[in-house]
Amino acid sequence: MATATRSARLASRLSSFLRPAARPATPSLAQRASFSLSARLKKSSVIKETEVPVSVYSPDAKGVASSNSDHFSIPVNPAAIPAQEPGPDPEDAPITPLQDNLYHRLPRTLQNMTVHGKVIIVTGAARGLGNHMARACAEAGAKAIVMFDANQELGDAAAADLHQKTGLPVSFFRVDVRDGAAIQTAVQNVVDLHGVPDVLINSAGIADSNIPAETYDAAMFRRLIDINLTGSFLMAQAVGRAMMGAGKPGSIILVASMSGSIVNYPQEQSCYNASKAGVVQLGKSLAAEWAKYGIRVNCISPGYMDTALNKVPALDAQKKIWKSLTPQARLGGVDELNGLCVFLASDASSFMTGSNVLIDGGYTLY
Ligand SMILES: NC(=O)c1ccc[n+]([C@@H]2O[C@H](COP(=O)([O-])OP(=O)(O)OC[C@H]3O[C@@H](n4cnc5c(N)ncnc54)[C@H](O)[C@@H]3O)[C@@H](O)[C@H]2O)c1
Repeated sequence: MATATRSARLASRLSSFLRPAARPATPSLAQRASFSLSARLKKSSVIKETEVPVSVYSPDAKGVASSNSDHFSIPVNPAAIPAQEPGPDPEDAPITPLQDNLYHRLPRTLQNMTVHGKVIIVTGAARGLGNHMARACAEAGAKAIVMFDANQELGDAAAADLHQKTGLPVSFFRVDVRDGAAIQTAVQNVVDLHGVPDVLINSAGIADSNIPAETYDAAMFRRLIDINLTGSFLMAQAVGRAMMGAGKPGSIILVASMSGSIVNYPQEQSCYNASKAGVVQLGKSLAAEWAKYGIRVNCISPGYMDTALNKVPALDAQKKIWKSLTPQARLGGVDELNGLCVFLASDASSFMTGSNVLIDGGYTLY
């Protein structure tokens, strides 16, 4: 039933996008009469204040606005619609690490929202979402950032850049997340270099799309599952063991996708969708098993994000459809997982485990 409703809504939104708008049929007299009545009813039920009463409680409230008291009114400007300015390019944004002296001056709630003093491993950190989440953790107070990625050149450059911009200890390990033995060795090395990790952010992943299931090559299918799903497991297992061995609580964040909860349209990508549904269920299972060790496991499920993964000419036409199906009518920025990632890594989310947080501009609402 829910699927049928969703399909009908998708069809109606897409039909207006894909076809020229049909000329509306002329309404009958009775239809026009009922339309104008309901419009009048709606209009009369909309509240449009011309003034907003304000109460201000502050030490210098007497000086606020032109009022002589703490209670005054402000006129409503009906034309005041906030303009959306395009932000600076996140690739060039400065990276400013949280200084110790500032951290100690923060109120407790804000201290909890940092990753002050934490050792953080980020996979897929050479570029894209993983790279920006690593930068965000550096800004939010991490003690050391460790990047794991299969791409030697990009990974080395990303680590050097982050260290140079922040002065923090940053290391890069060329690790393929399918390689269990290499992961175990690398995590042990992280423990020796920086201490037991407090946080794992697993962002390494690949996507195949526009491959109908009936022609999907089995070897390709296995490869994708191996990277996206088995890789998430092997990383979580190695870091989880290190945390358990040290009796240290921790936070594991698996980057899944909204594709783990919905089926994307119009591209056919059964394997990717299945892999991410697997990541979500893996995250929940680990959360249940490892709560007794103080290890929290949560998933981030992004919608369409504007990263290299999607900067493929073959996807240009489909991107227009994706945007038309997204209430915010755009793809997410490469740095728009940062806030959620820091929150899940921080102690502010201490009672949160086994959650799968969608962050998708509203895509999954329809
Ligand atoms: N971009 C999106 O629209 C989107 C949407 C939902 C979910 N995601 C997920 O977010 C994650 C990051 O995506 P992105 O857009 O930043 O992609 P990206 O391709 O820009 O970055 C992925 C990184 O993972 C690394 N990687 C790939 N295979 C690896 C392996 N076997 N071992 C180690 N590292 C490997 C790559 O070298 C790369 O640096 C992925 O898991 C992806 O599925 C992305």
